[in-house]
Amino acid sequence: MALPGCRPHLLLVLTLTIVGALAGLSKADRNTTMTSKELEMTRARLRSLNKPPLKSIQSPDGDIIDCIPFHLQPAFDHPMLKDLKAPLDPPERPKGNESAVNMANEVVQLWTLSGETCPEGTVAIRRTKEEDILRAPSVERFGKKPAVNAGILGSTTSHEHSIVYVKGQEYYGARAIINIWKPWVSPSDVLSSAQIWFISSDRTNAIEVGWYAHPRLYGDNLPRLTIYWTRDGFHKTGCYNLFCPGFVQTSKKVSIGSYFIGVSSYNAQQYEISISIMKVKGDEYWWLFVGDERVGYWPSSIFTSLAGHAGEVQFGGLVDSNGGRTATQMGSGHFSSEGFKRAAYFRNLEVVTTGDNFQPADGMQAIAEKPNCYDIKAVKGGDWVNYFYYGGPGCH
Ligand SMILES: *[C@@H]1O[C@H](CO)[C@@H](O)[C@H](O)[C@H]1NC(C)=O
Ligand SMILES: *[C@@H]1O[C@H](CO)[C@@H](O)[C@H](O)[C@H]1NC(C)=O
Repeated sequence: MALPGCRPHLLLVLTLTIVGALAGLSKADRNTTMTSKELEMTRARLRSLNKPPLKSIQSPDGDIIDCIPFHLQPAFDHPMLKDLKAPLDPPERPKGNESAVNMANEVVQLWTLSGETCPEGTVAIRRTKEEDILRAPSVERFGKKPAVNAGILGSTTSHEHSIVYVKGQEYYGARAIINIWKPWVSPSDVLSSAQIWFISSDRTNAIEVGWYAHPRLYGDNLPRLTIYWTRDGFHKTGCYNLFCPGFVQTSKKVSIGSYFIGVSSYNAQQYEISISIMKVKGDEYWWLFVGDERVGYWPSSIFTSLAGHAGEVQFGGLVDSNGGRTATQMGSGHFSSEGFKRAAYFRNLEVVTTGDNFQPADGMQAIAEKPNCYDIKAVKGGDWVNYFYYGGPGCH
């Protein structure tokens, strides 16, 4: 659905008005008392996240993708990022095993199915809805991780990781081809993800990218392209996606928070995306690529110990449960021993250390924190060079 240039403004105002009228209902749903101050904050938050679009595209999954002029995207509301407004001269993706990446199924997001595209000079941003904010514990916490709930391996008990990691060198890039599945997430749990963690040596700064099934964030169980950053060990700084200033989007083709057309099915067709995080040495930007598409960048200036390079890279699955028994699945919901088409995988794991190119990740270590619930099996060699199967059905 293409909207003429001036109407989205009006639509936005209308939406906000209706949102106001419905606030009583949401309040009952949440079984909390929503004060008029909170309502005001929710509306202000929506206004600052959802900029007036040049065009809007309706996705079959209910999402609305707004085409926002590059320089009007929410990141630039932040004084620290204001200077970055001029479009950059972005780098080419560094080379690694290109045949592996080219073999990965091209990532296609569901919202592009209609054939509608965002105009030149805009970026594709998934519109935030009022109910998205109301699912968060508070307006301030929307888009953030729970404060005590860090996501780095071993830091809490309610996270189950099945991952492969490399550490001990200076990492300037990480890349993997990630199999896409739709794991079941129990309503009492938070999320199930397949992702890359790009972590500073002191473990306080991190970039995370992958697909997440995160009902609280998205309102459904679908695996969606998700990013995250922090510079203080998940406490005050950082957030998911574009929910706080940090990540600057440059793509009009890939929308963060969106669902894919293809999700793998058991013993049938498999789908995958290739994800790369990289920096040209001495440059100021951590770039994110999905497939061949340059999606955007995190300016080095938002980080402290991750400004120059990472000290550790992790690849794999995460379940954030309430601890104890859970039916939340990781990956395909099947253990690694089931192998191709049945267990979820990451393949062609690569990093940039010395030199400018991606190389197969060397010295991989595998860890499954709860191997009875979610396991992992890493392999070096063979057609996929460096890969692993991981996942499981939960803790029953
Ligand atoms: C809210 O939830 C509490 C605890 O679950 C319950 O005791 C209370 O009756 C509920 N209030 C409303 C208005 O539904
Ligand atoms: C590149 O990846 C493909 C697909 O996994 C693999 O068959 C090939 O051996 C790899 N090439 C090198 C040089 O590692």
